[in-house]
Amino acid sequence: MSLMTLEEKVGQLNQLSSDFISTGPITCDGEKQDRVRQGKVGSYLNVTGAARTRSLQEIAMQSRRKIPLLFAQDVIHGYRTIFPIPLAEAASWDLAAIERSARIAASEAAGSGIHWTFAPMVDISRDPRWGRVMEGAGEDTYLGSLIAEARVKGFQGKGLGQVDAIMACAKHFAAYGAAEGGRDYNTTDMSMRRLHEVYLPPFKAAVEAGVSSVMNSFNDINGIPATGNTYLQRTILKGKWNFNGLVVSDWGSIGEMINHGYATDTADAAKRAIIAGSDMDMESRAYVGQLIELVKRKIVPESVIDEAVCRVLNKKFELGLFDDPYRFSDESREKAIWNDPTHLEAARDMAKKSIVLLKNDLVKKLGKPLLPLDVFGSTKIALVGPLVKAISDNNGFWSYSWPDDSVRVVSLWKGVERKFKASKDLIYAKGCELEGADTSGFAAARQAALKSDIVIVSVGESGSMSGEAKSRSEIHLPGIQEQLVKELVATGKPVVVLISAGRPLVFNWIADNVPSIVYTWWLGTEAGNAIADVLFGDHNPSGKLPMTFPRTEGQIPIYYNYFNTGRPFKNDKDFNYVTAYTDLPNSPRYPFGYGLSYTTFEYRNIRLSADTINLGESIKVKVNVTNSGKYVGDEVVQLYIQDVAASLVRPVRELKAFKKVRLMSGETKEVEFLLTEKELSFFQEDLRFAAEPGLFNLFIGGSSHTSVHTSFYAKE
Ligand code: GLC
Repeated sequence: MSLMTLEEKVGQLNQLSSDFISTGPITCDGEKQDRVRQGKVGSYLNVTGAARTRSLQEIAMQSRRKIPLLFAQDVIHGYRTIFPIPLAEAASWDLAAIERSARIAASEAAGSGIHWTFAPMVDISRDPRWGRVMEGAGEDTYLGSLIAEARVKGFQGKGLGQVDAIMACAKHFAAYGAAEGGRDYNTTDMSMRRLHEVYLPPFKAAVEAGVSSVMNSFNDINGIPATGNTYLQRTILKGKWNFNGLVVSDWGSIGEMINHGYATDTADAAKRAIIAGSDMDMESRAYVGQLIELVKRKIVPESVIDEAVCRVLNKKFELGLFDDPYRFSDESREKAIWNDPTHLEAARDMAKKSIVLLKNDLVKKLGKPLLPLDVFGSTKIALVGPLVKAISDNNGFWSYSWPDDSVRVVSLWKGVERKFKASKDLIYAKGCELEGADTSGFAAARQAALKSDIVIVSVGESGSMSGEAKSRSEIHLPGIQEQLVKELVATGKPVVVLISAGRPLVFNWIADNVPSIVYTWWLGTEAGNAIADVLFGDHNPSGKLPMTFPRTEGQIPIYYNYFNTGRPFKNDKDFNYVTAYTDLPNSPRYPFGYGLSYTTFEYRNIRLSADTINLGESIKVKVNVTNSGKYVGDEVVQLYIQDVAASLVRPVRELKAFKKVRLMSGETKEVEFLLTEKELSFFQEDLRFAAEPGLFNLFIGGSSHTSVHTSFYAKE
């Protein structure tokens, strides 16, 4: 630092995007390499590949102080091998699998010259109109915090310095997922209590897991844009939580404080952001354009610049870039990692575990449900729908396409064809497009159904309908896809519906009229294989919803851990002077934590180590879970509490523990949990985190709607 000029220090705080890939409004302003040579750039994003990063690093080594560049990339759910979108992975509730997914993504990214991923996105959201729900872990703070930890550990592996470990980045700090109306980049406003109770804990979990960086968010929160928010970045993050990594702004968010009406001009924006603790400036050019003058005019102390530069340089040292700037840019290692078959196996495993079985009713004339498919020699299967042969749509938003995708990404068609040996009896019809009103494909779809014994329909969103800047005011199946399903059901053939999307969708007619429904999210490179594994029963689905599915957009926000109110409804049809909508049932279409299996699980005999405890003591909870069906299956045993009366109203249910158990048909297992004072605590009015004496209800089951419960009393 003492050897650096002020210009060189400020250069380290400047992050630019290359023009190779654009993930925001690109500014084409001349030769970026010159800026690198002049030491005016500290980091590039959207520069990938061992060769390309090496060539740019060589230019950085021509600068006076030879400070290496940091190469960053949005490796959100895979790089060369695309894994299920994060919301789908959250549906697996399998923390080890989620960590492994991030680990593999990190090894592929590091092999391609990338030092830093802008992941995990840990924004809690309760609004499926917001397209970025696909990128997070859903609506629950407890599950979201555990997944944040798992992903940070996956990306950072055994720690920076390892050549397959990359910097993780918890984003978007903070409360970006609470955008009013689910409209991206919109205002967020909430009590400090709700901020600390719902939105901050996953970031804290990431910091405790050692996350290297945090990205602030576009939104204003309680009147101050996050990028210029001293309370968030200095008081909480760098102060209370003692975070020693670096804070990077989101794309242009420093300059956007002018639009917010929080900065008068770029100089004011730069001053407010650096003072508030935003260390590196992504793409707004406010820092590199204004900070030198602001220091010279003594408006910004040079010590503030030094603190930010120190955080940036520390990461470059930890990554080993000062020892060898090219250590990640090794083309031979890139080639070796590029087609590692174990990565595809892991992607298929993760995809299978992410699939959620929403419905699988008994079909009377068959005497059993349609799934798993019971195919024999002569069975004819019709695969119908706009996503049957989709390739890139399987990868979803925030993914990467490669020249060999057409042979490497497994479509539903290819997955079923491989599994269904007699593929001569596999009949295809597209039926309709994902969007639009052209019904000309319906006739061929009907024909395909009439020629078959069973129809599998694949509908949903395109891979770009959920994601950044993809908020939707209505979240029904796009176009005429639901009409296509109606046409196929009208043929009288048995119909299974697969729905692929980046968010919860509304599909009431299908939910009411189709006997088997499978939610297949966006499952990545191995999508078709994983779906076929489930359809044919090679994998018994075990996914559980990480977000509530509303009946209509009018129900939003709807989430499982709501407050009871003074006039709670008693059942779905209770509208009489209670908190309800008079035009639809009170419950969601599918609740948080819900997901079926090909088998059935029964919960019996909850027992506690005591029915009264002193606060500070812990309580052991045991329950017997039985697989009462005929298939081996995995069950996510979920434990919820309700603090019945406290100094603040508390949610009707709060997820506090879960365990995923495998049970053979007929097998019973005793599942045990330990509740401590921490699980009973909540943020008090004065933001102290503490538990209070009183009665607690305890619920255990395979969804947040379980009625299997008991109670205990905690006394002072
Ligand atoms: C985008 C996103 C952020 C991403 C960044 C770089 O606008 O908000 O999540 O990491 O820009 O692509």
